[in-house]
Amino acid sequence: MPQSVITNDDLSQIVDTNDEWISSRTGIKERRIAREETLASLGSEAAKNALENANMKPEDIDLIIVATMSGDHSLPNAAGEIQKEIKAVNAVCFDLNAACTGFVFALNTAQAYIKAELAKNVLVIGADVVSKQIDWNDRSTCVLFGDGAGAAVVTADTTGIMGIAAYSDGAKGDVLTCKLRPINNSLRKDPVDVDYIKMEGQEVFKFAVKKVPESILAVLEQAKVGIEEVDLFVLHQANSRILQSVSKRLQVPMEKIPMNLDRFGNTSAASVPILLDELNRKGAIKPKDKIILSGFGGGLTWGSTLIEW
Ligand code: COA
Repeated sequence: MPQSVITNDDLSQIVDTNDEWISSRTGIKERRIAREETLASLGSEAAKNALENANMKPEDIDLIIVATMSGDHSLPNAAGEIQKEIKAVNAVCFDLNAACTGFVFALNTAQAYIKAELAKNVLVIGADVVSKQIDWNDRSTCVLFGDGAGAAVVTADTTGIMGIAAYSDGAKGDVLTCKLRPINNSLRKDPVDVDYIKMEGQEVFKFAVKKVPESILAVLEQAKVGIEEVDLFVLHQANSRILQSVSKRLQVPMEKIPMNLDRFGNTSAASVPILLDELNRKGAIKPKDKIILSGFGGGLTWGSTLIEW
Protein backbone atom coordinates (compact mmCIF):
# COMPACT_ATOMS: atom_id res chain seq x y z
CA MET A 1 0.00 0.00 0.00
CA PRO A 2 1.15 3.59 -0.48
CA GLN A 3 2.29 5.32 2.72
CA SER A 4 -0.10 8.27 2.70
CA VAL A 5 -3.39 7.80 4.53
CA ILE A 6 -6.22 10.12 3.48
CA THR A 7 -9.19 10.13 5.85
CA ASN A 8 -12.75 11.20 5.09
CA ASP A 9 -12.09 14.34 7.11
CA ASP A 10 -9.07 15.08 4.90
CA LEU A 11 -11.33 14.78 1.85
CA SER A 12 -13.84 17.19 3.38
CA GLN A 13 -11.06 19.83 3.10
CA ILE A 14 -10.89 19.24 -0.67
CA VAL A 15 -14.54 18.75 -1.75
CA ASP A 16 -17.96 19.39 -0.21
CA THR A 17 -18.34 16.09 1.67
CA ASN A 18 -18.17 14.73 5.18
CA ASP A 19 -17.31 11.56 7.09
CA GLU A 20 -20.97 10.81 7.86
CA TRP A 21 -21.99 10.80 4.16
CA ILE A 22 -19.04 8.70 3.00
CA SER A 23 -19.18 6.20 5.90
CA SER A 24 -22.93 5.63 5.75
CA ARG A 25 -23.10 5.34 1.92
CA THR A 26 -19.94 3.28 1.39
CA GLY A 27 -18.37 2.02 4.66
CA ILE A 28 -15.08 3.71 3.67
CA LYS A 29 -13.22 5.63 6.42
CA GLU A 30 -9.82 6.15 4.84
CA ARG A 31 -7.75 5.16 1.83
CA ARG A 32 -4.08 5.14 0.76
CA ILE A 33 -3.07 7.55 -2.00
CA ALA A 34 0.21 7.34 -3.95
CA ARG A 35 2.59 10.30 -3.71
CA GLU A 36 6.07 8.99 -4.47
CA GLU A 37 4.90 5.46 -5.28
CA THR A 38 4.20 4.30 -8.84
CA LEU A 39 2.11 1.45 -10.18
CA ALA A 40 5.33 -0.46 -10.88
CA SER A 41 6.83 0.21 -7.42
CA LEU A 42 3.65 -0.92 -5.64
CA GLY A 43 3.32 -3.96 -7.91
CA SER A 44 7.00 -4.88 -7.44
CA GLU A 45 6.70 -4.70 -3.67
CA ALA A 46 3.64 -6.94 -3.73
CA ALA A 47 5.41 -9.33 -6.12
CA LYS A 48 8.46 -9.60 -3.85
CA ASN A 49 6.25 -10.32 -0.84
CA ALA A 50 4.30 -12.97 -2.75
CA LEU A 51 7.51 -14.70 -3.89
CA GLU A 52 8.82 -14.71 -0.32
CA ASN A 53 5.51 -16.07 0.94
CA ALA A 54 5.56 -18.80 -1.73
CA ASN A 55 9.23 -19.54 -1.01
CA MET A 56 10.17 -19.08 -4.66
CA LYS A 57 12.91 -17.26 -6.53
CA PRO A 58 12.21 -14.63 -9.21
CA GLU A 59 13.83 -16.82 -11.86
CA ASP A 60 11.28 -19.60 -11.14
CA ILE A 61 8.53 -17.41 -12.58
CA ASP A 62 7.75 -18.03 -16.27
CA LEU A 63 4.76 -15.70 -16.65
CA ILE A 64 3.81 -12.35 -15.06
CA ILE A 65 0.29 -11.02 -15.57
CA VAL A 66 -0.53 -7.57 -14.20
CA ALA A 67 -4.22 -6.72 -13.94
CA THR A 68 -4.40 -2.94 -14.14
CA MET A 69 -6.14 -0.02 -15.82
CA SER A 70 -3.62 2.56 -14.59
CA GLY A 71 -0.09 1.62 -15.64
CA ASP A 72 2.69 4.20 -15.46
CA HIS A 73 3.33 3.87 -19.19
CA SER A 74 1.58 2.65 -22.31
CA LEU A 75 5.01 1.25 -23.18
CA PRO A 76 6.58 -0.69 -21.59
CA ASN A 77 3.81 -2.64 -19.92
CA ALA A 78 3.62 -2.79 -16.14
CA ALA A 79 4.43 -6.51 -16.09
CA GLY A 80 7.71 -5.79 -17.91
CA GLU A 81 8.61 -3.01 -15.50
CA ILE A 82 7.97 -5.31 -12.56
CA GLN A 83 9.97 -8.09 -14.24
CA LYS A 84 12.92 -5.69 -14.46
CA GLU A 85 12.61 -4.60 -10.83
CA ILE A 86 12.31 -8.11 -9.36
CA LYS A 87 14.70 -9.71 -11.90
CA ALA A 88 12.25 -12.40 -13.04
CA VAL A 89 14.42 -12.95 -16.10
CA ASN A 90 12.60 -16.05 -17.38
CA ALA A 91 9.10 -14.60 -17.45
CA VAL A 92 6.80 -13.66 -20.32
CA CYS A 93 5.03 -10.44 -19.31
CA PHE A 94 1.73 -8.85 -20.19
CA ASP A 95 -0.95 -6.62 -18.70
CA LEU A 96 -4.66 -7.28 -18.65
CA ASN A 97 -7.35 -4.63 -18.21
CA ALA A 98 -10.66 -5.73 -16.76
CA ALA A 99 -10.94 -2.85 -14.26
CA CYS A 100 -12.00 -4.07 -10.81
CA THR A 101 -12.50 -7.65 -12.09
CA GLY A 102 -8.90 -7.69 -13.35
CA PHE A 103 -7.31 -9.87 -10.69
CA VAL A 104 -9.99 -12.55 -11.00
CA PHE A 105 -9.66 -12.63 -14.81
CA ALA A 106 -5.84 -12.67 -14.53
CA LEU A 107 -6.04 -15.62 -12.16
CA ASN A 108 -8.28 -17.43 -14.65
CA THR A 109 -5.73 -16.67 -17.38
CA ALA A 110 -2.92 -18.07 -15.24
CA GLN A 111 -4.96 -21.23 -14.75
CA ALA A 112 -5.50 -21.55 -18.52
CA TYR A 113 -1.77 -21.11 -19.26
CA ILE A 114 -0.86 -23.72 -16.65
CA LYS A 115 -3.48 -26.20 -17.90
CA ALA A 116 -2.22 -25.73 -21.47
CA GLU A 117 1.32 -26.38 -20.17
CA LEU A 118 2.44 -22.96 -21.41
CA ALA A 119 3.57 -21.96 -17.92
CA LYS A 120 4.39 -23.58 -14.58
CA ASN A 121 4.76 -20.71 -12.12
CA VAL A 122 2.74 -17.57 -12.70
CA LEU A 123 2.95 -14.31 -10.79
CA VAL A 124 -0.50 -12.72 -10.83
CA ILE A 125 -0.57 -9.09 -9.74
CA GLY A 126 -3.56 -6.79 -9.26
CA ALA A 127 -2.45 -3.15 -9.06
CA ASP A 128 -4.09 0.21 -9.60
CA VAL A 129 -3.30 3.86 -8.94
CA VAL A 130 -6.84 5.07 -9.53
CA SER A 131 -6.05 8.38 -7.81
CA LYS A 132 -4.50 9.67 -11.04
CA GLN A 133 -7.68 8.89 -13.00
CA ILE A 134 -9.98 10.64 -10.56
CA ASP A 135 -11.35 14.15 -10.85
CA TRP A 136 -10.48 15.48 -7.39
CA ASN A 137 -13.26 18.07 -7.76
CA ASP A 138 -15.93 15.38 -8.25
CA ARG A 139 -17.14 14.39 -4.79
CA SER A 140 -19.29 11.56 -6.16
CA THR A 141 -16.22 9.58 -7.30
CA CYS A 142 -13.12 10.90 -5.50
CA VAL A 143 -14.27 9.58 -2.12
CA LEU A 144 -14.61 6.00 -3.33
CA PHE A 145 -11.18 4.92 -4.53
CA GLY A 146 -7.71 4.21 -3.15
CA ASP A 147 -4.39 3.00 -4.57
CA GLY A 148 -2.64 -0.31 -3.92
CA ALA A 149 -1.30 -3.61 -5.20
CA GLY A 150 -1.56 -7.29 -4.31
CA ALA A 151 0.02 -10.41 -5.76
CA ALA A 152 -0.15 -14.18 -5.73
CA VAL A 153 2.04 -16.96 -7.09
CA VAL A 154 0.04 -19.64 -8.90
CA THR A 155 1.66 -23.00 -9.58
CA ALA A 156 0.58 -26.31 -11.11
CA ASP A 157 -0.88 -28.38 -8.24
CA THR A 158 -3.64 -30.82 -7.46
CA THR A 159 -5.57 -28.28 -5.41
CA GLY A 160 -6.44 -24.81 -6.59
CA ILE A 161 -9.04 -23.53 -8.98
CA MET A 162 -12.28 -25.54 -8.81
CA GLY A 163 -14.47 -23.44 -11.09
CA ILE A 164 -14.64 -20.22 -13.08
CA ALA A 165 -17.61 -18.04 -14.01
CA ALA A 166 -16.58 -14.95 -16.00
CA TYR A 167 -18.74 -12.42 -17.84
CA SER A 168 -18.70 -9.12 -19.76
CA ASP A 169 -21.36 -6.77 -21.06
CA GLY A 170 -19.74 -4.13 -23.25
CA ALA A 171 -23.15 -2.73 -24.18
CA LYS A 172 -23.46 -1.38 -20.62
CA GLY A 173 -19.89 -0.06 -20.48
CA ASP A 174 -21.02 3.57 -20.48
CA VAL A 175 -21.98 3.56 -16.80
CA LEU A 176 -18.32 3.57 -15.70
CA THR A 177 -15.81 5.20 -18.03
CA CYS A 178 -12.44 6.93 -18.30
CA LYS A 179 -11.00 7.85 -21.72
CA LEU A 180 -7.38 7.28 -22.63
CA ARG A 181 -5.52 9.90 -24.63
CA PRO A 182 -7.74 10.89 -27.54
CA ILE A 183 -6.63 11.04 -31.18
CA ASN A 184 -4.38 14.07 -31.37
CA ASN A 185 -2.69 14.54 -34.70
CA SER A 186 -2.21 17.26 -37.27
CA LEU A 187 -5.56 16.33 -38.90
CA ARG A 188 -7.48 17.28 -35.73
CA LYS A 189 -8.08 20.91 -34.86
CA ASP A 190 -10.28 20.56 -31.73
CA PRO A 191 -8.61 20.79 -28.32
CA VAL A 192 -7.56 17.62 -26.52
CA ASP A 193 -9.01 17.19 -23.03
CA VAL A 194 -7.80 15.02 -20.20
CA ASP A 195 -10.62 12.74 -19.07
CA TYR A 196 -11.37 11.36 -15.60
CA ILE A 197 -13.45 8.53 -14.19
CA LYS A 198 -17.17 9.10 -14.65
CA MET A 199 -19.72 6.85 -13.05
CA GLU A 200 -23.46 6.42 -12.83
CA GLY A 201 -23.28 5.26 -9.22
CA GLN A 202 -26.76 3.85 -8.86
CA GLU A 203 -26.53 1.89 -12.12
CA VAL A 204 -23.24 0.37 -11.00
CA PHE A 205 -24.75 -0.42 -7.62
CA LYS A 206 -27.77 -2.19 -9.17
CA PHE A 207 -25.50 -4.12 -11.55
CA ALA A 208 -23.26 -5.31 -8.70
CA VAL A 209 -25.97 -6.48 -6.30
CA LYS A 210 -27.58 -8.55 -9.08
CA LYS A 211 -24.57 -9.95 -10.93
CA VAL A 212 -22.26 -10.81 -8.01
CA PRO A 213 -24.72 -13.30 -6.42
CA GLU A 214 -25.57 -14.73 -9.87
CA SER A 215 -21.92 -15.38 -10.69
CA ILE A 216 -21.29 -16.95 -7.28
CA LEU A 217 -24.23 -19.32 -7.71
CA ALA A 218 -23.07 -20.15 -11.26
CA VAL A 219 -19.58 -21.15 -10.20
CA LEU A 220 -20.86 -23.21 -7.27
CA GLU A 221 -23.27 -25.03 -9.58
CA GLN A 222 -20.43 -25.68 -12.04
CA ALA A 223 -18.19 -27.10 -9.29
CA LYS A 224 -21.07 -29.00 -7.60
CA VAL A 225 -20.27 -27.29 -4.29
CA GLY A 226 -23.01 -26.16 -1.89
CA ILE A 227 -22.95 -22.55 -0.73
CA GLU A 228 -22.74 -23.72 2.89
CA GLU A 229 -19.46 -25.51 2.05
CA VAL A 230 -17.77 -22.21 1.17
CA ASP A 231 -15.56 -20.93 4.02
CA LEU A 232 -14.89 -17.40 2.78
CA PHE A 233 -16.21 -14.99 0.17
CA VAL A 234 -13.41 -12.62 -0.83
CA LEU A 235 -15.36 -10.07 -2.83
CA HIS A 236 -14.20 -6.90 -4.57
CA GLN A 237 -14.13 -4.16 -1.95
CA ALA A 238 -16.20 -1.39 -3.54
CA ASN A 239 -18.89 -0.62 -1.00
CA SER A 240 -20.07 -2.23 2.26
CA ARG A 241 -23.71 -1.88 1.21
CA ILE A 242 -23.04 -3.96 -1.91
CA LEU A 243 -21.44 -6.68 0.23
CA GLN A 244 -24.31 -6.58 2.73
CA SER A 245 -26.78 -6.96 -0.11
CA VAL A 246 -24.87 -9.99 -1.45
CA SER A 247 -24.91 -11.47 2.07
CA LYS A 248 -28.68 -11.02 2.28
CA ARG A 249 -29.44 -12.32 -1.22
CA LEU A 250 -27.32 -15.45 -0.74
CA GLN A 251 -28.17 -15.85 2.96
CA VAL A 252 -24.49 -15.98 3.81
CA PRO A 253 -23.47 -14.45 7.18
CA MET A 254 -21.29 -11.32 7.00
CA GLU A 255 -18.63 -13.18 9.05
CA LYS A 256 -17.88 -15.11 5.86
CA ILE A 257 -17.64 -11.91 3.77
CA PRO A 258 -14.59 -10.11 5.19
CA MET A 259 -14.03 -6.40 4.51
CA ASN A 260 -11.07 -4.05 4.57
CA LEU A 261 -12.60 -1.29 2.45
CA ASP A 262 -12.96 0.87 5.58
CA ARG A 263 -9.13 1.25 5.54
CA PHE A 264 -8.37 1.11 1.82
CA GLY A 265 -11.47 2.13 -0.16
CA ASN A 266 -11.94 0.63 -3.61
CA THR A 267 -8.47 -0.28 -4.90
CA SER A 268 -9.84 -1.67 -8.19
CA ALA A 269 -7.85 -4.70 -9.45
CA ALA A 270 -5.85 -4.77 -6.20
CA SER A 271 -8.71 -5.24 -3.75
CA VAL A 272 -9.14 -9.04 -3.96
CA PRO A 273 -5.43 -9.96 -3.58
CA ILE A 274 -4.88 -7.36 -0.82
CA LEU A 275 -7.74 -8.82 1.22
CA LEU A 276 -6.68 -12.41 0.48
CA ASP A 277 -3.17 -11.59 1.69
CA GLU A 278 -4.45 -9.96 4.89
CA LEU A 279 -6.61 -12.99 5.67
CA ASN A 280 -3.73 -15.36 4.94
CA ARG A 281 -1.25 -13.45 7.09
CA LYS A 282 -3.57 -13.33 10.07
CA GLY A 283 -4.21 -17.10 9.84
CA ALA A 284 -7.86 -16.80 8.84
CA ILE A 285 -7.41 -19.30 5.97
CA LYS A 286 -6.80 -23.01 6.54
CA PRO A 287 -5.55 -25.57 4.02
CA LYS A 288 -8.48 -27.04 2.03
CA ASP A 289 -10.70 -24.03 2.74
CA LYS A 290 -13.03 -23.26 -0.13
CA ILE A 291 -12.90 -19.60 -1.09
CA ILE A 292 -14.93 -17.62 -3.58
CA LEU A 293 -13.02 -14.76 -5.23
CA SER A 294 -15.37 -12.33 -6.93
CA GLY A 295 -14.79 -9.18 -8.94
CA PHE A 296 -17.06 -6.67 -10.67
CA GLY A 297 -16.61 -3.31 -12.34
CA GLY A 298 -15.89 -1.36 -15.51
CA GLY A 299 -16.45 -2.99 -18.85
CA LEU A 300 -18.84 -4.02 -17.53
CA THR A 301 -17.02 -7.11 -16.29
CA TRP A 302 -17.75 -9.51 -13.47
CA GLY A 303 -16.97 -13.03 -12.37
CA SER A 304 -16.37 -15.47 -9.56
CA THR A 305 -13.68 -18.10 -9.18
CA LEU A 306 -13.86 -20.90 -6.62
CA ILE A 307 -10.52 -21.94 -5.17
CA GLU A 308 -9.41 -24.55 -2.68
CA TRP A 309 -6.57 -23.19 -0.51
N1 COA B 1 -20.51 13.78 -0.16
C1 COA B 1 -21.70 14.37 0.06
N2 COA B 1 -22.71 14.31 -0.80
C2 COA B 1 -22.51 13.61 -1.93
C3 COA B 1 -21.30 12.99 -2.23
C4 COA B 1 -20.27 13.08 -1.29
N3 COA B 1 -19.06 12.51 -1.44
N4 COA B 1 -21.40 12.37 -3.41
C5 COA B 1 -22.62 12.60 -3.88
N5 COA B 1 -23.30 13.36 -2.99
C6 COA B 1 -24.68 13.84 -3.07
C7 COA B 1 -25.17 13.92 -4.50
O1 COA B 1 -24.78 15.15 -5.08
C8 COA B 1 -26.66 13.84 -4.30
O2 COA B 1 -27.14 15.10 -3.91
P1 COA B 1 -28.54 15.66 -4.49
O3 COA B 1 -29.56 14.68 -4.05
O4 COA B 1 -28.62 16.99 -3.87
O5 COA B 1 -28.34 15.66 -5.98
C9 COA B 1 -26.81 12.91 -3.09
O6 COA B 1 -25.54 12.91 -2.43
C10 COA B 1 -27.21 11.51 -3.43
O7 COA B 1 -26.40 11.06 -4.47
P2 COA B 1 -26.59 9.65 -5.08
O8 COA B 1 -25.61 9.46 -6.20
O9 COA B 1 -28.02 9.39 -5.35
O10 COA B 1 -26.17 8.73 -3.84
P3 COA B 1 -26.24 7.18 -3.67
O11 COA B 1 -27.05 6.87 -2.47
O12 COA B 1 -26.56 6.48 -4.95
O13 COA B 1 -24.74 6.83 -3.32
C11 COA B 1 -22.75 5.94 -4.31
C12 COA B 1 -23.72 7.11 -4.24
C13 COA B 1 -21.68 6.26 -5.32
C14 COA B 1 -22.11 5.75 -2.94
C15 COA B 1 -23.53 4.64 -4.70
O14 COA B 1 -24.32 4.88 -5.83
C16 COA B 1 -22.59 3.51 -4.99
O15 COA B 1 -21.91 3.03 -4.12
N6 COA B 1 -22.58 3.01 -6.24
C17 COA B 1 -21.66 1.96 -6.62
C18 COA B 1 -20.34 2.59 -6.91
C19 COA B 1 -19.23 1.62 -7.03
O16 COA B 1 -19.06 0.76 -6.22
N7 COA B 1 -18.41 1.78 -8.09
C20 COA B 1 -17.27 1.02 -8.34
C21 COA B 1 -17.62 -0.32 -8.84
S1 COA B 1 -16.21 -1.19 -9.22
